[in-house]
Amino acid sequence: MLTQTHPRGLADLEPVAEDSLIGLIALVNADPRPDKIDVGVGVFRDGAGNTPILKVMKEAEQRLLDTQVTKAYLGSAGDKRFAELLRPILLGPHARDERIAGLQTPGGCGALRLGFELIATANPDARVFVGTPTWPNHPPIINAVRLGMVEYPYYERGQGIIRFENMIAALNGAEAGDVALLHGCCHNPTGADLSEDQWREVVRVVSDRGLIPLIDIAYQGFGRGVDEDAFGVRLMLDACDEVIIAQSCDKNFSVYRDRVGSLWVKTGSASGTKTAMGHVFQRAREMWSMPPDHGAASVHIILDDAELRARWLVELKGMRDRINSMRQRIAAADPRLAFIGRQYGMFSMLPLSKQQVLKLREDDAIYMADSGRFNVVGMGDDQIDRFIAAVAGALDA
Ligand SMILES: Cc1ncc(COP(=O)(O)O)c(C=O)c1O
Repeated sequence: MLTQTHPRGLADLEPVAEDSLIGLIALVNADPRPDKIDVGVGVFRDGAGNTPILKVMKEAEQRLLDTQVTKAYLGSAGDKRFAELLRPILLGPHARDERIAGLQTPGGCGALRLGFELIATANPDARVFVGTPTWPNHPPIINAVRLGMVEYPYYERGQGIIRFENMIAALNGAEAGDVALLHGCCHNPTGADLSEDQWREVVRVVSDRGLIPLIDIAYQGFGRGVDEDAFGVRLMLDACDEVIIAQSCDKNFSVYRDRVGSLWVKTGSASGTKTAMGHVFQRAREMWSMPPDHGAASVHIILDDAELRARWLVELKGMRDRINSMRQRIAAADPRLAFIGRQYGMFSMLPLSKQQVLKLREDDAIYMADSGRFNVVGMGDDQIDRFIAAVAGALDA
């Protein structure tokens, strides 16, 4: 007997749950209260509560407008000079290593997808070890390339500390060829970065066990400094033959919507890397063919000009200083928030239940992620005292 198969069309699609952080933006926009505080979204804001275009970026964009003579295709690698200029900033002393190659990608997100595509091409049985909580877009990207995922607890929210023993035990349970997904700096969502000693230990386990580290570095320069924030990346390159790095310029050049990033691949030999990059270009060609030009071309102009580059570093330091001074100010306000002063980058997690987070939203018009993640530079200077008082009240409850 023939079994009747139901034709599956677009009308048969199941609805997708909305991304909670995107949903939060809509909630903030719909709230008419003039004193609302949005510490949900992950963009840098200055003391006036704005996310301005960097002055140096405006100038580079003007130069680009004045001098660009063609918009002809660039190819899957995007702007090659952009990657060349970024190379020493990210890789430091490893910049001359011919076993490392990089290409421009649509943001850090594109770099992550491409990096995981490469792993899935090489070894579809590889498992990705992911410390939780992590950036909520990591698991969907890993699922999209159909790699298995092993989660382990990374962070103790009550005390604001890394569960380092859990991390090491989990990585010790991984097998050669498995992948360790690591945050290069300014951990999102916790702000809890590995210390230098902890990095040494992680690098030792990753290298001893033959794991492939995939380091996501989206906030270089937002933590301690440009070189300091690349400590883990460079230490891993010292020790391992196979390393993948997904990098983003979207935050440190403040060009979020322009989608500027890069992917870096190291194998044990220059010829091995050439072969791996052949697969990378092929995957890129299938997904986006080539990355958008404008943002990377502007970053290229800045990094290729000594004066603009120096001014970028000053503006970047300005953003870093504001992040760190906001952290110190919040930490000093209440001993229960002291851990925030020992962390890096834009994010921290408050030890609040989802109900307490929702109550802050309703009663105080303070919007943060359901997990208690908040952006330390999400609020303007005139909102800090009200924010701290409301959070202290929620912690008392
Ligand atoms: C940890 C982490 N990785 C990658 C990204 C992706 O950055 P991009 O906007 O460049 O795709 C983000 C952005 O929020 C992030 O927080």
